[in-house]
Amino acid sequence: MTNERQDSPERMFEAGADRAGYVREMFGEISGRYDLMNRVMTVGQDLRWRRRAAKAAVRAGDTVADLGSGTGDLAFACLEAGAARVVGLDVARPMLARARAKGQRLSPHAGFGLGDATQLPLPDASVDVWCSAFMVRNVPDLDAALREAHRVLRPGGRLAVLEIPKMDEGLLRPFARFHFNNVVPVLGKLLTGHRSAYTYLPLSVDHFLTPREFTAHLVGLGFEVTEVRMLMFGTVAMHVARKPLVGEPRSTMR
Ligand SMILES: C[S@@+](CC[C@H](N)C(=O)[O-])C[C@H]1O[C@@H](n2cnc3c(N)ncnc32)[C@H](O)[C@@H]1O
Repeated sequence: MTNERQDSPERMFEAGADRAGYVREMFGEISGRYDLMNRVMTVGQDLRWRRRAAKAAVRAGDTVADLGSGTGDLAFACLEAGAARVVGLDVARPMLARARAKGQRLSPHAGFGLGDATQLPLPDASVDVWCSAFMVRNVPDLDAALREAHRVLRPGGRLAVLEIPKMDEGLLRPFARFHFNNVVPVLGKLLTGHRSAYTYLPLSVDHFLTPREFTAHLVGLGFEVTEVRMLMFGTVAMHVARKPLVGEPRSTMR
């Protein structure tokens, strides 16, 4: 059983709430069962999505920053895709401890440390790839995180984001909403002992952006969006984008 925080997830979306603090503590509290919950909730598909995102963005020899690295699964997928070095950054220390333990088994080329996506401890133009799986929805100041991504990417560098988007109206929306609003909180309580984390999840999806809106944010911040792919019946979105070279004309979506 975890020492679940008493803050109500609903209150986290009200003005003045400390959502960043809530998110940091909540992920720390569920870190022990986080991987298991992912495997069950996605029927084992989540590792495939991370591999797909890594393959779409990483080239052999790249230096990669994985933001909100959690237990490290995207970082390891990037190494599998050919990255020379991956730096995983997260705000939750217990998540980092799990990632480091996996790193000892899997690869010496992944390093994990404390870091906030909105204030990266990395120099300008220092990485070939900035990637993130299921983090951006949890960052109250999304544009600050994307501006930081743009700053630390070298010109021509790539960004890959996996996220659960707010769904456009459509035939599958009621089923997805039922899954996230009814099935996920019960599963979360059973597997992690932490109901509020998995009540927060569907709320954070409802307060996030549709894939089209997220594309518009990326373009507005100077990225060229090269691929938008919907996975798992439209419940997961993968965005791949590029930081244009200096002097390259600005384009929107290829
Ligand atoms: C849903 S988990 C995803 C973890 C991992 N990327 C994965 O694919 O399993 C979100 C992670 O983002 C981290 N996080 C949330 N806000 C963050 C921020 N502003 N900067 C860095 N990490 C953050 C959380 O601590 C958590 O580990």
